[in-house]
Amino acid sequence: MSGLILVAYATRYGSTQEVAEAVTATLRESGLEVDIQPIRKVRSLTGYKVIVLGAAIYYGLWHKDAVNFLTKNESALTQRPVAVFALGPNSTDENERQGCQAQLDKELAKFPWLKPVVTELFGGRYPSKLRFPDSMVAALPASPMHGKPASDARDWIAIRAWASNLAINLQPALL
Ligand SMILES: Cc1cc2nc3c(=O)[nH]c(=O)nc-3n(C[C@H](O)[C@H](O)[C@H](O)COP(=O)(O)O)c2cc1C
Repeated sequence: MSGLILVAYATRYGSTQEVAEAVTATLRESGLEVDIQPIRKVRSLTGYKVIVLGAAIYYGLWHKDAVNFLTKNESALTQRPVAVFALGPNSTDENERQGCQAQLDKELAKFPWLKPVVTELFGGRYPSKLRFPDSMVAALPASPMHGKPASDARDWIAIRAWASNLAINLQPALL
């Protein structure tokens, strides 16, 4: 099997990086050659046959590094398969999940040329300590983040299963 995959991720608090690392490890266990990088450090997509793009949602918007990456790389990304994952819901509540899915769908709709081979929304981790400016927003009593406890809704079995399926689905593109 030949053909390099790039897993590019955008994170504020580290949980998306950990998911990207688990996806990378699973793809490698399936025999695939994989590089992993924070999206903002990706300089060129030359040499990569497939891109896996992962980023979290904040205030209804996808991480700005992911949005910038899509904006800058339209031409390269239309020439190769792209798989997308996002982190959002901080619980397993179905209503919350649907709300986050709608946010992600809205963000992706801004890039009508993007036709991901697969798109997945994973549960996220809400951090125990927020940094500025998030800490300032959460301090407002009217904010939905006010007093919100730390949580971790990442389902590692589902994440690894998604990556295993991805490895199978990508095989034709990597030949
Ligand atoms: C300040 C803040 C705002 C958030 N806003 C949203 C949101 O609007 N929609 C959503 O689905 N998830 C939201 N989340 C949940 C994050 O997407 C989730 O916690 C994710 O795992 C964070 O990723 P990171 O650790 O890579 O930064 C928010 C989290 C934080 C900390």
